[in-house]
Amino acid sequence: NEEYSLPYNLFLIGFMGSGKSSVAAYLHRKYEMPLFEMDETIAEREGMSIPELFETMGEEYFRAAETALLIELQSNQNTVVSCGGGVPMRACNVEAMKRNGKVILLTASPETILTRVSGNDNRPLLKGRKNVAGIQALMEQRRPCYEAAADLTIATDGKKVEEICREIFQRL
Ligand code: S3P
Repeated sequence: NEEYSLPYNLFLIGFMGSGKSSVAAYLHRKYEMPLFEMDETIAEREGMSIPELFETMGEEYFRAAETALLIELQSNQNTVVSCGGGVPMRACNVEAMKRNGKVILLTASPETILTRVSGNDNRPLLKGRKNVAGIQALMEQRRPCYEAAADLTIATDGKKVEEICREIFQRL
């Protein structure tokens, strides 16, 4: 295992299914970086799954929980943070990430995303949108915020997780 110790955090952003969780898990395993999974942490603390949380408390409640978590992370370093797909849509979230981290945007085509998210029902925002057109529409809506937040953008189509991670360190 190679060890890196970055004096800042790495925030992985991107659309649902862009590979944030897989890349974060790999960086944690291979480079021993502390891992922080935003969705998982919120679900654990709230004692319910993300779909249940959306259903019972509403999306705004979930968004507030995301913002609160990012503030907690401000004193960390060398932590790889797998962000929920909606995190960069709030300017205050982007500011919080920039304060002590680099923001890495993972991208993939709508076709690739569709393959990766099919067979998985834990994304309330994809309800009724699990097709290329639906994914593309939401992706276009989010693209400006994603791109404005990113320090580094990595296309993931056709790449293995190892390759994506190598590219991150080469280009940081
Ligand atoms: C969301 C993405 C999800 C999760 C929630 C909302 C979004 O995370 O936070 O369902 O708004 O794009 P992933 O990107 O890890 O699927």
